[in-house]
Amino acid sequence: MIGQLEDLLTQLEQLREQAIAELASITTSAQLDEWDTRYLGRNRGELKNLSAVMPKLSKEERPVVGQKINAVKSTLEQELKAKREELKQREMLQTLEQERIDVTLPGRALPAGHMHPLSRTIQDVSAIFMKMGFQIVQGPEIETDYYNFQALNVPEDHPARDMQDTFWVSPGEILLRTQTSPMQIRTMKQQQPPVRVLVPGKVYRNENIDVSHEAMFHQIEGLLIDEHCTMADLKGVLERFAHEMFGPERRLRFRGSYFPFTEPSAEVDISCASCNGTGCRVCKYTGWLEILGSGMVHPKVLREVGYDPAKYRGFAFGMGVERIAMLQYNVNDIRLFSGNDLRFLRQF
Ligand code: DAH
Repeated sequence: MIGQLEDLLTQLEQLREQAIAELASITTSAQLDEWDTRYLGRNRGELKNLSAVMPKLSKEERPVVGQKINAVKSTLEQELKAKREELKQREMLQTLEQERIDVTLPGRALPAGHMHPLSRTIQDVSAIFMKMGFQIVQGPEIETDYYNFQALNVPEDHPARDMQDTFWVSPGEILLRTQTSPMQIRTMKQQQPPVRVLVPGKVYRNENIDVSHEAMFHQIEGLLIDEHCTMADLKGVLERFAHEMFGPERRLRFRGSYFPFTEPSAEVDISCASCNGTGCRVCKYTGWLEILGSGMVHPKVLREVGYDPAKYRGFAFGMGVERIAMLQYNVNDIRLFSGNDLRFLRQF
C-alpha cells in the first residue's frame, strides 16, 4: 500500500499546485465562484473526490492522508479568501473610476426669472408716492354696483353702466370693478381724515381688444383728503410724481374734463419725451401724452362717506398702469403685457 499512499499524497500536492496556479489567472468573482466549486465544492469538488478513498486506507495511512487533505484544504481556503478580498478591492476601484464625479466642475445655473414689467411700474409709482406719505392699499376686484358706481356719483344712465362696458356678475348688483375708484369710498368709510392712499390693482372692461385696449388692465388710484387742500396741491403732487417718474425736464398740462366723482376735473398730459413737446409720431404731433385723470373730490362723494364737505376737501387721480409702462419702456401694443411671450418679457 506504500506505493498507493505516496501516489495519493502526490496527487493531493499536484491538486494544490494546480489550484493555486489557476487562481492566479482569475479576474472576476464569477470565475472565483467556479474555482471554489471545482476544488472545494462539498459534493463533487476535486478535494472531496480524493477524500473518497479514505475508507479504503489502513489505520496507519488514514491520519497521514487526512492531515494532507486538511493542509491542502486550509491552504486553498486561505488563498480563496485572499483572492476574494483582492477582487472586491479591484471591483470597488473600478466602480469608483467609472462613477467618478468632478466636484470642481462649476454648477449649472438655474434660470432665474424677474419681475413683470407691470409689477415694476407699479413699484416705481408706489415708491414715489410713498415718499410723499401715501399709504399703499388694495381692494376687491369683485365689487358692488354701490361702490363702483352709486357712491361715486355715477348717475343711473351713465354710459359706464352699459352692459357693453361692464362685466356683471349679477346685473345691477355685483360686477368686476371697472376702475380702482371704489377704493376711495371703501377707504374713506373706514378712516377719518387726513387720508393719503395709493391703490394699485386690476380692473376689467368689456372692451374690443386692440393695441391700446384690453379687457383686463391695471390702474393706480390716488386719494388725499385734508382740511386745507386745494388744486394747487394736486398739481404739486402730480408734478413731483411726473418729474421723478419720467425726468425733471417733463412738463404737465391740465385740461378741464369731466368725471362724476370730481369737481372740477382735469385730464393731465405730460410733454412728449420723444420730441420734447415739438410734435412727433409718438404724440400724434400734439407734443403731449395723456397720463391720468384727476380732480377735486366731489362734495356729494364726501357727504356719501360721512365727511363734512365744509371742513374737508381733497383730490383724487387715476392712471392706467399699462399706459404708463408703455411710455416708460416704449411699448406699442398693450396686449404684449399679458401675452406671456418670454421674448418680450426677457427684455426688461
Ligand atoms: N376712474 C377713472 C377711470 O377709470 C379715472 C379717474 C379719473 C380716477 C379721475 C380718479 C379721478 O380718481 O379723480 O377712467
